[in-house]
Amino acid sequence: MSASKPDGLSRRDFLGVTGALAGAGLLAGKSTAGDGDNRPAAGGLGPDPVKFGLRVNGKDHEVAAEPRATLLDVLRDSLDLTGAKKACDRGECGACTVLVDGKAVYACMMLALQARGREIRTVEGLAKGEDLHAVQAAFIEHDGYQCGFCTPGQVMATVALLEKTPSPSGDQIRAGLCGNLCRCAAYNRIFDAAAAASKAK
Ligand code: FES
Ligand code: FES
Repeated sequence: MSASKPDGLSRRDFLGVTGALAGAGLLAGKSTAGDGDNRPAAGGLGPDPVKFGLRVNGKDHEVAAEPRATLLDVLRDSLDLTGAKKACDRGECGACTVLVDGKAVYACMMLALQARGREIRTVEGLAKGEDLHAVQAAFIEHDGYQCGFCTPGQVMATVALLEKTPSPSGDQIRAGLCGNLCRCAAYNRIFDAAAAASKAK
């Protein structure tokens, strides 16, 4: 299946960004002159962890992470938000999908530093106390999962889809979720859940 990427960074974008950062001495903090000069670049970041702020699920956090750390790793390892799953870790499956400024993004393909000043939402932020988000409730109601490993990503992609397109057609649902793979192939029930969520009051 050909999985189109959510509106986040593509693998090409990621490599471009990391290449640019490395070229500027921001990732490794080393000279890239290729003349054997490995002195830290003046004013560069890393390789040691740096402190920076992230706003996740409406709360501000200060984290310390290597500049090369992905948003996924910082969410999971620094903030203990393990809903976004690390599966392929290379932008192919969607298990790590979170929302950044309302857009579905592969968190494994975005540097955490790039998320500074942006509104990050994870599956942990959907429910309000005991009240599940309509998309979560619809996934339960329609059995929109089997093993459940892809489910947080499917749910977040559905939330992004419905916030942009509140009443999607079947084709729009399939297109909106085509960046999220389900190894259990529970697609029909996932699409049913998304359709039901779009009709929920
Ligand atoms: S873990 Fe990020 S796309 Fe697969
Ligand atoms: S429910 Fe198992 S991978 Fe989707």
